[in-house]
Amino acid sequence: MRNKNPSRDEKKTQKKSSKYEREYELERKLRHKNKELKRLKKETRELLSELDKAYKGIRKSQGEKIIDERLNLASEFTAELADRLKNSLNVMSLSVQYLSEKFNDENEKKELTEKIMEKIGILNNMAMGLLNFAKPHKPELKTYSVHKVLDNALNLLKFQCIEEKVEVVKDYSSKILPVKMDMEMMEQVFLNILDNSLWAMKGGGTLSVTTRFLSPQKRAQIIIKDTGVGIPQGNLQKIFDPLFSNKRNAVGLGLSVAYRIIQQHKGSIEVQSQEGKGTTIFIELPVAR
Ligand SMILES: Nc1ncnc2c1ncn2[C@@H]1O[C@H](COP(=O)(O)OP(=O)(O)OP(=O)(O)O)[C@@H](O)[C@H]1O
Ligand SMILES: [Mg+2]
Repeated sequence: MRNKNPSRDEKKTQKKSSKYEREYELERKLRHKNKELKRLKKETRELLSELDKAYKGIRKSQGEKIIDERLNLASEFTAELADRLKNSLNVMSLSVQYLSEKFNDENEKKELTEKIMEKIGILNNMAMGLLNFAKPHKPELKTYSVHKVLDNALNLLKFQCIEEKVEVVKDYSSKILPVKMDMEMMEQVFLNILDNSLWAMKGGGTLSVTTRFLSPQKRAQIIIKDTGVGIPQGNLQKIFDPLFSNKRNAVGLGLSVAYRIIQQHKGSIEVQSQEGKGTTIFIELPVAR
């Protein structure tokens, strides 16, 4: 109980103790605020990391969207182009054929007309390739082992590998890796990739074909690695673009067709390359139950 009429000393003590009380109270509040600040900082850090993850996700899906948009645009453009090309080639072919029949076999002009016909044939094949790209068919899905389809593609290139001194090293997973796929389309994917690798290894090299079962994701991984010329850093972003090519007489559709087919099969395709060292293509496909 407080004294109703405190002495001077007592007043002094009371004043001192209330000052301490206020200081103590202030310190307590400060400690509390500090704790709250720490908690807020932690929450902000967590939110920022979530935001970063979300941004990365958006950037990835935007990248995929841009490729899709480009593919659609290129498809329309390509179908139109291929159609016009085929019509013109038809007229040219008929005219040259007509001319060719006018010359006998000894006439050197006959040889010239035949050369023109040969070139028309090549252009016609390119136009067909463009048309196939522009008007793709829906995959007819059946379950096949990834290894069987890879072997089919490798067999088709067997002689080319021998001729070009390319050693093929297979390292297949012990699992069968069944995948629901359109076999013809998937064979086309592997052929397009292997064809690029062989082109890159003119003069010889090693082609490694590896498969793995990615158990947590239930996906089959196919790794096709070459020891070829590699892809310059600046071109890595462009190689899946339709009509991008740095080869003579090529259309530049192989990888964009492969990309689209893999997408149709709910898979993914990625590339790693080092100029002068080689290129590795990573494909993932969902494994069938
Ligand atoms: N394994 C590889 N090594 C080096 N360069 C490659 C490799 N794969 C692709 N490229 C580069 O990517 C480009 C695009 O490849 P893509 O298969 O789409 O078209 P292309 O081979 O040029 O023509 P097409 O496949 O229509 O005959 C190639 O021109 C080449 O420059
Ligand atoms: Mg190609």
